[in-house]
Amino acid sequence: MEKVIHKDAAREMWKTTNGTYEKVRPSHDRAAVQYLLRQLGVLDNDLCNQSPPFTYAVLDVGAGTGKCTSVIKDILREDARIAALDPVAGMLEQLKAVVPGVDTFVSPCESIPLPDNSVKAVVSSQSFHFIANVTALREINRILVPGGKFGILFSVDDEASPLVHDVFEVMRKYKYPGCPEFFINTLQDTSWQKCFGEAPLFTPLQEHVMPWEKQDTLPDVESVVQLFMTFSATAREPEVREECAESMRRLLAANQTVKQNGGQLEVPRLSALYWCTKNTVDN
Ligand SMILES: C[S@@+](CC[C@H](N)C(=O)[O-])C[C@H]1O[C@@H](n2cnc3c(N)ncnc32)[C@H](O)[C@@H]1O
Repeated sequence: MEKVIHKDAAREMWKTTNGTYEKVRPSHDRAAVQYLLRQLGVLDNDLCNQSPPFTYAVLDVGAGTGKCTSVIKDILREDARIAALDPVAGMLEQLKAVVPGVDTFVSPCESIPLPDNSVKAVVSSQSFHFIANVTALREINRILVPGGKFGILFSVDDEASPLVHDVFEVMRKYKYPGCPEFFINTLQDTSWQKCFGEAPLFTPLQEHVMPWEKQDTLPDVESVVQLFMTFSATAREPEVREECAESMRRLLAANQTVKQNGGQLEVPRLSALYWCTKNTVDN
């Protein structure tokens, strides 16, 4: 039941934020993506070694419109084969336009249309909160080569900032019924990790949290509201969404720092990185 809710959450998020998602959502911190790819053993020198053989160096699952795929493509050597998977076809259409040369698969992570032992590393960026279930982990394990690695990246607005905390409190008030807390803050609620304990598919998750090298400053209150309204946690009903947006506008407009900066706001972000290695199991 929970899985169905989250699948719908992804689809619904795309329907409600379609036009704005690609425009207002930030990309990812290049240094963090590089750090993760190093842990996953797919930076230049690692890829010279094709043993065991693999078809794709990286499969980006829940790739969406390609925000992380494009950073991965930029970092990896030119001939590294990259694939992207997402259940929402419309998002992958945008990905193909933005990141050419990447093979795409319209499918959920619970059913990956790739052969066993065919991928060196799987990356889930800003998507594992939708995916967190043992069926998906079994599929990721299956398609990875022996010794292959799985990496998770979340770009998290830093709730240590009082203003981010206040905005998150508004989102908590207006989130859709049954939405887990980790849809708002994956660092605060780490229960998305529970599925790793349900089957011995991977080594224990390793973790590294780092601030973004270059933080974003948003030009005005409306941009901040637009950004946070693309979060999938927010309820779907148009009138509730409008109430939520209005509540954020009031909060931000009354804030002294925002006033002093002429409406501009720096949204401090962290990259939370996790990685593990495939255990060999009978699927
Ligand atoms: C917030 S977006 C992140 C997109 C992109 N990776 C990024 O970094 O911006 C989450 C993505 O997860 C996808 N998703 C949701 N459920 C999924 C599932 N079961 N398997 C794979 N992807 C899923 C959604 O369709 C959506 O594109």
